[in-house]
This record gives sequence, structure tokens and C-alpha cells, in this order.
Amino acid sequence: MLCLETTCDETGAAVVESPWFGPDEAPDPTPVPKIVSNVVSSQIDLHGPFGGVVPEIASRAHLRTILPVIRQAMVEAKMTYDDLDAIAVATKPGLVGALVVGLSVAKTLALTLGKPLLTYDHIEAHLYAAQLAEPETPVFPCLGLIVSGGHTTLLDCRSALDVTWLGGTLDDAVGEAFDKVASLLGLGYPGGPAIEKAAAVGDPKAFAFPRPFAQESRLVFSYSGLKTAVLRAFEQNRYKALDPEASEKLIADLAASFQAAAADSIVHKTKQALKATGHGRLVVGGGVAANKALRNALEELCRKRHVHLHIAPMWLCTDNAAMGAVAYLKWLRGESAPLDCDVMAGLLRPDKPAKS
Ligand code: KG4
Ligand code: ZN
Repeated sequence: MLCLETTCDETGAAVVESPWFGPDEAPDPTPVPKIVSNVVSSQIDLHGPFGGVVPEIASRAHLRTILPVIRQAMVEAKMTYDDLDAIAVATKPGLVGALVVGLSVAKTLALTLGKPLLTYDHIEAHLYAAQLAEPETPVFPCLGLIVSGGHTTLLDCRSALDVTWLGGTLDDAVGEAFDKVASLLGLGYPGGPAIEKAAAVGDPKAFAFPRPFAQESRLVFSYSGLKTAVLRAFEQNRYKALDPEASEKLIADLAASFQAAAADSIVHKTKQALKATGHGRLVVGGGVAANKALRNALEELCRKRHVHLHIAPMWLCTDNAAMGAVAYLKWLRGESAPLDCDVMAGLLRPDKPAKS
């Protein structure tokens, strides 16, 4: 199967392979597909000067790179288009213009090659990445946590394709907050790794930044107030910029205090969601899962609660097409998408169940 990913600012194509030959032959439990090739072209350099993803630039870059990326994935897989059994593409959630590029290419390939078209949910794919990383251990059912540039979401996952939205951010995603705070502090883009580096020598208690909704049982996050709090603290201490040593310490302390607040909110709401659902497994996906402070805090939470923690390695955790292997599960159920199907920008909500 050829999987495509164009939800945001990475153009991805991957070939994934199953050890069986058709929908009727899959044993139960279904073995996890193998990643044969996984090519990702990042647009970081294009968006860097703007401190965040610019949707139109993203769409145009997908247009330019998607065919070369697919070609490379096929070459690395040593396969011809005839060898493929289906074409899969992420159609939600994401930037509409970016999604349209991937879906148009997938439809064209499906039509011209006479192969079935499968669509998959980018969030479900992020969670399935953990299953791809640990093919021998069933990671579902689990509590799902997606922390990325576009999402801060908790999900009740009864299986890889039976996922219900439990809660999420009311405003910005946590990764976006990392990117915006890094830009404010002059640390560059993407902000996550830059904040983490600066925070390593800072004091996480130097500033008491807000942890919204900590006293509430609602599974909600908010990062816009935290961003504003960092901005205010930065402006109040701007006079320190005159002294290079004090300025460096200020940036490190702001980064460390911001990172601690951002991670605390996630850990706190995850703890509440684990209690509410009773899940014994936690699966974490998305680029912010690379953050060591967050990882350590989640590890500690899971250790205390006797919960198994599953986080895919970085190359599978961030946006890529191999995680689209989740679409194989649909193919095995004999599902395919019509050639007039559309994309969807928004997140999974309780009123919009995750099934597609
Ligand atoms: O999942 P991802 O590659 O793309 C999507 O947004 O879907 O996540 C990218 C986000 C960016 O906001 C980036 O700043 C953040 O992940 N990130 C990190 C770290 N590495 C990447 N955030 C915190 N700490 C990190 N080490
Ligand atoms: Zn993503």
C-alpha cells in the first residue's frame, strides 16, 4: 500500500506491506504492517522566517514535492506501481489546501492504476505510529494523547479505528505555543527543540506561569493565556537585555518556566483522563512528545499509576506517511473511499465520531 501525508508542513509518502494477500486472509489478531519505505520532505526552512506554518506556502510546497517524494518512496521500496494493492491518504484534520493536494494526487493514482482509494484520519495515524513501533505488543485499547503543532487532544481508543474525542485545547495547540514563545524569545523555528535547549540551563520555578483548568475535571487545555503570560514577563524584564549575562539567564528561565507550565497541564489532564477511562495504556503521538521534560513527567505518572506508556520514536512520532498504515485495517475490512470524497479541516469532536 502507498500512503500519503500532506496534512500540514511535511510532504510524506510511504510504502507499507502486509504479510497476507487479501482482506479474507488476515488472521486475528491482525499482524502489524511492515514499513518498507518512508520518505518525508520537511518545509521547515520555508515557514521558519514566519515563525509558524503559512497555509498557502504549505500547499504550494506540497504541490512541488509530492510527486518526487512518491517516486523516492517507490524506488526505496523497490516496487512498481503494479505491486501496490491500494492508495491511502490522510484527509482530516489539517490545512484544507494542503489536504487537497494529497487527496487529488491519491485519487489520480487510484483512478489511473485501478487501485482502491483509502482515506485515513491523521490523529488515528499518529496513535497507530506507536503500534508500528512495537509490532509485537498490542497497544490498543488505550488512552491516546496527541501533542503537536496543530493538536492537544485526549482520545479514548477502544481500537485503532474506534476512537472517541475526550477533550482538547480551547485555543492554541501546545506545539504552536512552543513555536510562538520561541519566536518571542528570539530562539528560532521550530520552537520546541529551541525552547528545550534554552530551558536546560534555566530555572523552571523562576516564573509562576498559569496552569489553566487545573482545579476542574473538564478535559480541556488552553495555551493562549500562557503565551501572553510569557510575553508580559519578558516585557517586564526587558531592561535585563542590556546585560548579556542577565539576558541569557532571563531567556533560559522564561523557557524553563514556560516548558514546565506547558508540560504540567498535559500531565495533569492526562492523569484525569486515565482515572476517568480506567485505561491501562497511554499512547502519545505528535512532535511535542520529543520533549524530555514532558516525557519524564509522563513516565513518572505512568509508573505511579501502573500504566504502560507507548511513545513512538521521533521519526514515527512527528508527521510522516508510514503511520498511514492504519488504513490497512480499513482495507482488511473491505472498505474503500469513493472517488468524489472530500477533505475535512476540523478536529474530531463528540458530535463528529472518528469513523470515516
Ligand atoms: O507532529 P509534528 O511534527 O507536526 C504537527 O504539528 O502535526 O509537531 C511539530 C511540533 C512543533 O510545534 C514543534 O515545535 C514541536 O512539535 N516540537 C517540540 C519538540 N520537538 C518538536 N516541542 C517541544 N519539545 C521538543 N523537543
Ligand atoms: Zn500531526
